[in-house]
Amino acid sequence: MNCQKTKLLHDNLSVKDGTLYFADYNTTTLARKYGTPLMLLDEKKIRNTMRIYKNAMEKYFGKGAKPLYASKALSFVGIYQIAKEEEINTDIVSIGELYTAIKAGFPLENAFFHGNAKSDSDIEFAIDNGIGYFIVDTYDELYAIDKIAQKKGVCQKILLRLTPGIDPHTHSAIATGKVDSKFGTAIETGQALKIVKEALSLKGIDLRGYHSHIGSQIFDIKPFCDSADIMIRFVGEVKETLGFEAEILNLGGGFGVRYVESDPVIDYAENIRLISEHIKDYCQENEIEMPTILMEPGRSIVADSGMTLYTALSIKEIDGYKNYVAIDGGMTDNPRYALYQSSYTVLTSNKMDKEASYECTIAGRNCESGDLIQENVKIAKPQRGDNIAVLVTGAYNYSMASNYNRVPRPAVVLLGDTDRVVIKRETPEDVSRLDVTL
Ligand code: LLP
Repeated sequence: MNCQKTKLLHDNLSVKDGTLYFADYNTTTLARKYGTPLMLLDEKKIRNTMRIYKNAMEKYFGKGAKPLYASKALSFVGIYQIAKEEEINTDIVSIGELYTAIKAGFPLENAFFHGNAKSDSDIEFAIDNGIGYFIVDTYDELYAIDKIAQKKGVCQKILLRLTPGIDPHTHSAIATGKVDSKFGTAIETGQALKIVKEALSLKGIDLRGYHSHIGSQIFDIKPFCDSADIMIRFVGEVKETLGFEAEILNLGGGFGVRYVESDPVIDYAENIRLISEHIKDYCQENEIEMPTILMEPGRSIVADSGMTLYTALSIKEIDGYKNYVAIDGGMTDNPRYALYQSSYTVLTSNKMDKEASYECTIAGRNCESGDLIQENVKIAKPQRGDNIAVLVTGAYNYSMASNYNRVPRPAVVLLGDTDRVVIKRETPEDVSRLDVTL
């Protein structure tokens, strides 16, 4: 029998008396207590993964090496508090993420401000609040930061974002390291060397090193090693031609995560060790002092620490065609299938002992045919009122949620020693709060 139990992908999932448990909590009880749709987060797993990165980076790259949590994956006050407690840095990409980090009391000297289009007011706000580093994409941004920093009497630390020209073989929408990318300045065309020279000449700019990010949800280690090789070679080239030796090299994020049984299990510490070997060898051969290495994991820190619980609202069987299970959420809380046809594991979480034999498409509640969570999956046959669990939704779900159709966003509950709401459920009042009555 193809029991649903076989689909438990990660060690924070288990089954007792036919019910799915997540982080040792009974999901049916949580659905009743908090309502659905509900996003659950496993605090222990988040902290544990942050520690895996931190310890492996220190061990293999040496003192000073650190992970930055890429908070675009999931941003809320509590996650910056956790990152602060775990003594890791963070990557923020907008004024909203920056403001949330400030609210959390996150030390901004350990925050890196990303993005390919920062406005003057973004730059001013970040400098006024003591941002650690800007990661600079282009000349326009470089000059804007220089001008604002000089006006404020500051010499602003930056890293330059460079494109190493690597194709990581992931979904094209999340590949970022190719020469024609909208992000960064290309090494291959010679433009990277020119922008370094320019940055070194500006009084308001304190260039500390380089950044690269090749893409996201990448399982193969080779593109990371190839990219690291190119970046470290560039460090050497700049040292030779301009006499500038980078102090920091940020290798970005991108490690893949297991969403379905066919995805591989990734050992992040081992990946870090393999990349470190490449860098150390190159530095030794070329007599370059290894820069301080930073990495920016987002997805791999929060994805499998999260899951979403829904309630099945209608089961529609189109004879000779297909079956739909419509749930009380959809693309408004998880747009990833609509955007990238991403794979997910779906379970009828209060019928875990039943056979996963009902083939169906999980449809969202929004007025859009493409509002699907997954097509043609096999789950235990649900009835209206049963709970539908979608696993591994911690990354790029809530952070990409919207209010399309004015659907309020779900609550987020953190499961640790106790269960606590870390983002309140939106109400209809919340979604109309900014409207001005005529
Ligand atoms: N650093 C930079 C500069 C990035 O652009 C990203 C992700 C990361 C770090 C973190 O990468 P991760 O470790 O999470 O792979 N919305 C898409 C993913 C977009 C990724 C954007 N950048 C999705 O749902 O798959």
